[in-house]
Amino acid sequence: MHYYGTSSANEKGHLTIGEVDTIELARQYGTPLYVYDVALIRERARGFKQTFERLGVTAQVAYASKAFSSIAMIQLIEEEGLSLDVVSGGELYTAIKAGFPAKRIHFHGNNKSAEEITMALDYGIGCFVVDNFHEMNLLQSLCERKQVKASILIRVTPGIEAHTHDYILTGQEDSKFGFDLHNGQAQEALNHALNNQSLHLMGLHCHIGSQIFETTGFIKAAEKMIQKLAEWHEEYQFTSEVLNLGGGFGIRYTKEDTPIAPSNYVEDIIGEVKRMMGEKGLNMPEIWIEPGRSLVGDAGTTLYTIGSTKEVPDIRTYLAVDGGMSDNIRPALYDARYEAVIANKPEAKRENTVSIAGKCCESGDMLIWDLPIAQASPGDILAVFCTGAYGYAMANNYNRIARPAVVFVENGNASLVIKRETNEDLLRLDVPLHKTV
Ligand SMILES: Cc1ncc(COP(=O)(O)O)c(C=O)c1O
Repeated sequence: MHYYGTSSANEKGHLTIGEVDTIELARQYGTPLYVYDVALIRERARGFKQTFERLGVTAQVAYASKAFSSIAMIQLIEEEGLSLDVVSGGELYTAIKAGFPAKRIHFHGNNKSAEEITMALDYGIGCFVVDNFHEMNLLQSLCERKQVKASILIRVTPGIEAHTHDYILTGQEDSKFGFDLHNGQAQEALNHALNNQSLHLMGLHCHIGSQIFETTGFIKAAEKMIQKLAEWHEEYQFTSEVLNLGGGFGIRYTKEDTPIAPSNYVEDIIGEVKRMMGEKGLNMPEIWIEPGRSLVGDAGTTLYTIGSTKEVPDIRTYLAVDGGMSDNIRPALYDARYEAVIANKPEAKRENTVSIAGKCCESGDMLIWDLPIAQASPGDILAVFCTGAYGYAMANNYNRIARPAVVFVENGNASLVIKRETNEDLLRLDVPLHKTV
């Protein structure tokens, strides 16, 4: 049994997280329920931040809030002294309502609207990560109208794409994001920014992929960006204050995954960046990174109640839970894999193999195929691990299923941070054609 973070089994033989009995949580808050291990989030945040401090490198670790955004989550990130990456007006609004310091907010997105940019300018955020010429022009005209100056990074596609264990070098990067580093687009963006009184160009950004288990791809991307910075230093006397290497650090969803610790990612990458900057005779810029999944992914566990069973003789047994693709769409979307245990007996021998089905009207609504599991009965609580990133964030109301509640647990205490949606909430925006009951 692999326990994540502070999870363990108590004297009753129940799964605990943050010293709180998960069966008690399921009873008190209902299921499906997302449970976040706050100590593990803090540990990860410190793992990244303190490594930069130890290496004497000025840095910003910006939590990619697309992984899981809520007021409480953002307040926790603020407690840990991290920065914040947002990609929409909604994520920005959440940050504002959480009271997150404006200067540590970075605004991403490949199609920011005038309303979103205006909200960000009014709040005085620290940096726009500019993705394309349309955005640069829009930002410039809004800044001129408001007579303010915006700090920006230019997002580039360095021609490297990394996924899990692989990275591939792609000649002409085929991506909807960013300016191509090699075909002249990035240089045109640089010229545009440097000749613009309303924009302050701080440096470059790239994000090469997700669930990456090696540092090679990050280092290759950094190398390409540093090469370009050296050319631009020579040609335009441009000195980059910031080099943002994005997020994508991998986590362990199943035993096939072999992530490395945050400190190792940072040490490896920084060592190489320092060396390359030195070789080019450039000053070391501030390093920014944007972890999402690696801060919250394995800190999240979803509790479900087991309901119906269907046996297909000689083929498989389906065990259905009270959630599914409405609270975790990743298996259907990406074929994502998870591990799970029966939370009321996590240590029991796993003598059966079952497939965990959701309750949505969709054959593809399967959470886990062929899971080794102890004998399960209706009413047992299933704990699916590692659901903290892109789980609640991608939750939806398919079949008009209400979204689950979210609790934070730490040192024996549980606090509700997102309430369970009610049927009334589901109808909140409906406008009837006729008078209703
Ligand atoms: C620009 C950018 N930064 C950071 C992230 C966070 O990635 P991860 O959650 O894999 O760390 C993403 C994810 O899509 C991204 O697009």
